[in-house]
Amino acid sequence: MLFRKQKTPADRPVPTHIAIVMDGNGRWARKRGMPRQAGHKVGAEAFRTIANYAKAIGLKYLTVYTFSTENWKRSEEEVNAIMDLLEKYLREILRDMDKNQVRFCFFGDMSRLSPQLQEEARLAAGESKKYSGVQVNFCLNYGGRAEIVRAAQKFARDCVEGKCRPEELTQERFSDLMYSAGVPDPELVIRPGGELRTSNFLLWQSAYAEYYFTDVLWPDFGPKDLEKAIAAYNGRNRRFGGAK
Ligand code: IPE
Ligand code: IPE
Ligand code: MG
Repeated sequence: MLFRKQKTPADRPVPTHIAIVMDGNGRWARKRGMPRQAGHKVGAEAFRTIANYAKAIGLKYLTVYTFSTENWKRSEEEVNAIMDLLEKYLREILRDMDKNQVRFCFFGDMSRLSPQLQEEARLAAGESKKYSGVQVNFCLNYGGRAEIVRAAQKFARDCVEGKCRPEELTQERFSDLMYSAGVPDPELVIRPGGELRTSNFLLWQSAYAEYYFTDVLWPDFGPKDLEKAIAAYNGRNRRFGGAK
């Protein structure tokens, strides 16, 4: 079962939206003399545990960077292995949907994925709309820059068609043209795997997010690490440009 009951600490605030760059699978495998694919497999299990935990602590939105617009540069073997894993998990999501009560969304250009994956993602998103548990946003063939360009194109098209004028564009309206329309910006972005960069993740949405970096590789990342990130977040002084 993807989601089950879990013990959680109760005495600390939890952000509304946490986003995670699930990085470090390849290095995790290499360290063990295994093929990179083996790291993705264990990484997918780490996602299962974290999603389960996120639901248990009452998180409203969990956005995970699953496959970037740049990850196509990898070997065909690795890309296929990742796509196979995605299919396996999507089938599981569809099967256990009623039990889990989790909403699923997909951010990214799905048109480059296999027709079967596209259909399963469409079904998972459509059928799970009615649930009120945590919302999991999978960033799949996602890139922050591509998302911004796509939003700009949509707005430009509406202007050309006479539906709106350029000066009517506001930050709120632009946000509504993103994949994440209607989802509040993440307060906390976590990047395991030791790299200190965003790698094109949620560029627009994370303008004022707090970042938490850790050397822990994603397959080893568990609820304790998530709690450490939340504790670090709770200790931050968010000023949003003010002088508090
Ligand atoms: C993240 O782990 C998973 C994907 C990008 C699909 P990596 O595969 O990037 O692992 P490292 O960074 O090479 O260790
Ligand atoms: C970011 O990790 C993308 C995902 C985790 C899906 P990458 O491994 O692709 O990023 P870089 O290459 O280290 O910047
Ligand atoms: Mg990586």
